[in-house]
Amino acid sequence: MNLEALRHKLASNLSPPRYEHSLRVMALACKLARHYQTPEEPVAIAALLHDVAREKNGAELLSLAENYGLTIESTDQKAPVLLHGKVGAEILRREWAITTPSILEAVAVHVTGAPRMGMISELTLLADFAEPGRTFYSAHIARELAFVHRPTALKYIFTQKIRYILDAGYLLHPLTIEARNQLLMGETGSE
Ligand SMILES: [Fe+2]
Ligand SMILES: [Fe+2]
Repeated sequence: MNLEALRHKLASNLSPPRYEHSLRVMALACKLARHYQTPEEPVAIAALLHDVAREKNGAELLSLAENYGLTIESTDQKAPVLLHGKVGAEILRREWAITTPSILEAVAVHVTGAPRMGMISELTLLADFAEPGRTFYSAHIARELAFVHRPTALKYIFTQKIRYILDAGYLLHPLTIEARNQLLMGETGSE
């Protein structure tokens, strides 16, 4: 399926606001891909489709994860929305014929982040947090930082996400902490 066909299919799978968000994530991720001189198409596909499973409810996400044989951690069990990345990646592999591992990884990890993410995952996560429809202040900062220094932008996003989750009293997924720790420990100019 080409990008146009994927867009069309996604539009019939998501509510209009979520679809619009997906288009904005794709646009920003593509800008970042050009900035970092990395092939644009896989970034566009991952960013466009990252929330394919976001509108499934908790019970659906849990039963799909179970049917697909995915590892369901205790945090996922308590907060099934955390599964929408991993379940989304499986849906794309099984029903959308998306087979590129780096695209599937980007969709799978966009919710929690993960240590040592690939470029497509990093750009998808950055764009998801920083797309211009996000009007909170930290999204604005992240949008600026994303074009200056990727690891700093990612570290900033994880710090913001963790703060938000703690303040709201939500469950914090261990991968988010691991992702941030890895960035803190690996600050030796990998760019
Ligand atoms: Fe998402
Ligand atoms: Fe999103």
